[in-house]
Amino acid sequence: MAVAPFDEITAIYTSFHAWSYETIVAPAVYLSRHVIDERFLPHLPQGARVLDVGCGGGKFTKYIADQRPDISIVGIDLSKPQIARAKKLLRGYGDRVRIELGDATQLAFPDASFDGVLSYGSIKHWTSQDAGLAECMRVLKPRGPLLVTDADRSATFEDSENLVANYTTPRFLAGPNLAFFRTWIAGRSLDLDDARDVASRIDLDDKDVSRIPGLPLLLISGRKAG
Ligand SMILES: C[S@@+](CC[C@H](N)C(=O)[O-])C[C@H]1O[C@@H](n2cnc3c(N)ncnc32)[C@H](O)[C@@H]1O
Repeated sequence: MAVAPFDEITAIYTSFHAWSYETIVAPAVYLSRHVIDERFLPHLPQGARVLDVGCGGGKFTKYIADQRPDISIVGIDLSKPQIARAKKLLRGYGDRVRIELGDATQLAFPDASFDGVLSYGSIKHWTSQDAGLAECMRVLKPRGPLLVTDADRSATFEDSENLVANYTTPRFLAGPNLAFFRTWIAGRSLDLDDARDVASRIDLDDKDVSRIPGLPLLLISGRKAG
């Protein structure tokens, strides 16, 4: 039995994980959506087809769909409760947004079938980060943008406080939330060196591995070589 929201970082999100992440944490992580504007959307052609790997409850899937009415998006996630949340959030988008059950490490799509691939806050949970990134690259078209973000194990205390201050819980929970974030979430995620290491095995032009300023998050971005 889980004694905390995750006894294993690779455990599949239950309804409780889905509820707590989407209700409490995701609104704070949403502060980082400007990186999508800066590093992802400008590189998508008109009418692009995008894949959101580990789309969760669909907040960022929706953000992309709202910014770019010309594009279509497929969101995949390993958790049925997350899929149900995303489908509910995105039910008004018709065929333009599809949400499916799927595993980042075994994507059920042909090679080079997406113009852009995004993954937000999910890579730390994958059973193999190398396999998942290789799959993201396989389904991405040459020159297409890749954007991967997650919690940064090497984040400063101040950046962690900044994220937790934006959780939707009452303020008196800020201390426990901070401890929980730094140990159970960021503490079991990648640090900047880990991110550089996994990114070294994928072939991206304009590759960047860096921190998202002001938040305890890191990113890998670039465009598939070719
Ligand atoms: C922290 S949530 C992020 C959700 C969403 N991308 C966001 O930023 O709001 C991580 C998500 O990754 C999903 N996930 C974990 N392992 C996965 C895998 N191997 N393949 C696909 N999704 C996965 C989880 O079910 C969860 O919904």
